[in-house]
Amino acid sequence: MYGLIHNSLRDMMRTRLGDDEWVEIMLAAGLSEKDFLSLKSYDDSVVLSLLGVAHTRTGRSIDELLYDFGWHFISRTAFAHYAGVLNMHGESFWELLDNLNHMHDRIASSFPGYRPPSFQLLPIEENTYELIYSSSRQGLTAFVRGLLDGLADYFSVVVEITVVHDTLSDQGQQTCFRLTALGTK
Ligand code: HEM
Repeated sequence: MYGLIHNSLRDMMRTRLGDDEWVEIMLAAGLSEKDFLSLKSYDDSVVLSLLGVAHTRTGRSIDELLYDFGWHFISRTAFAHYAGVLNMHGESFWELLDNLNHMHDRIASSFPGYRPPSFQLLPIEENTYELIYSSSRQGLTAFVRGLLDGLADYFSVVVEITVVHDTLSDQGQQTCFRLTALGTK
């Protein structure tokens, strides 16, 4: 994944675990500063080894780490550095969810060859939607869950989120989330 993702993960670990622990994790994962160039594309093994080392050292599950990372990515990377792009693609939680593919397409020129996920938002009944997340990767459902909760928090909406089904295949992974709007904060 692009170094932008590494930088955000580094920022999350520094914030939650402290600078000293971060340096230990980075060294144990066999990484150095050259692995954190935002606009360079890296093998996914970099992210996986950082998560693996953090799991071993902290005892937190990979899914817990991914969930925290998703939330952090929204508040500290996406809206902190790309608010213009995000605001252009939605003035509400639901509008932005409906435009995530356009949004990732729009920034593709900054990230040549990247493999963003795709999302499909389907109305089910009043206040209830299904969001289908499709990725060429596997194992990132908890990250998406953190992204969704982080987005709901940003837009001050209360949303109940459950996983309806989760399917692994040779092509990657597809997860169907059910989202029910419960009100505003
Ligand atoms: C403007 C803000 C955003 C930027 C700049 C951005 C950029 C990126 C980049 C560079 C990647 C790595 C892909 C690769 O290297 O192959 C990525 C992956 C991803 N993005 Fe975004 N993104 C943004 C917002 C969002 C939002 C709001 C969501 C969903 C709520 C989202 C969902 C994801 C997911 C789930 C991945 C992991 C890749 C996968 O699932 O296969 N992103 N994004």
